[in-house]
Amino acid sequence: MNNIILKPATMADSKLLMDWRNDPETIKASHNSKAVTIKKHFEWLKNTIKNPDKQLFIAWKISGIIGNKYGDIGDVLQPVGTIRSDYHLEENCYELSWTVAPKARGQGIGKQMVSTLAKRMADKNIRAEIKPENVASIKIAEAAGMKFDKVEYRYTSDTEKEPVLHYYRVSNITCTFKDYKGEGK
Ligand SMILES: CC(C)(COP(=O)(O)OP(=O)(O)OC[C@H]1O[C@@H](n2cnc3c(N)ncnc32)[C@H](O)[C@@H]1OP(=O)(O)O)[C@@H](O)C(=O)NCCC(=O)NCCS
Repeated sequence: MNNIILKPATMADSKLLMDWRNDPETIKASHNSKAVTIKKHFEWLKNTIKNPDKQLFIAWKISGIIGNKYGDIGDVLQPVGTIRSDYHLEENCYELSWTVAPKARGQGIGKQMVSTLAKRMADKNIRAEIKPENVASIKIAEAAGMKFDKVEYRYTSDTEKEPVLHYYRVSNITCTFKDYKGEGK
């Protein structure tokens, strides 16, 4: 059952996002291996929210129903993770990156969250960059329809490199404008 709702992030989510960003497991999984400061994080969030090529979501889990003696009033929502899509014009592809709240890990949230967005983006090419030891994220990417594409070695210092796995899913659009004009064959 999918009980995850994706809502666009706002500045009110700043503290939540920073806590998740600075969690040691998140730092280990990310390309940037340093914790961020409040000031930098605030700037980053402000710029991300106003950038039309980026979409940042908070995943909310419906964890119960609130009511009174007259009946149900509404759902109880708990923030359980975040997912971002960054559009890369030169590749015509959306890069997805995600983090599950430390307390919500190991409950299938990552899989649901990424698959929900990937399904919504069925007509888009999507990709993800994952470190090889991040087995959970590899499974999440595969469950969302992405397939292993290539391995890239990235410098982490002047002398050291580390592998990054690229996962990719092509859009379900098979007819392009060039095909229509008879030029794509
Ligand atoms: C990696 C991360 C996103 C996983 O999220 P999650 O909600 O705990 O993952 P899920 O519960 O949806 O599990 C997905 C799959 O991975 C498996 N899994 C979960 N945690 C695992 C772990 N620590 N080691 C190995 N497998 C794991 C699950 O069993 C599940 O496998 P299944 O499909 O065979 O049942 C989360 O731990 C996290 O936010 N980590 C820090 C940030 C990060 O790694 N971001 C991704 C960068 S690419």
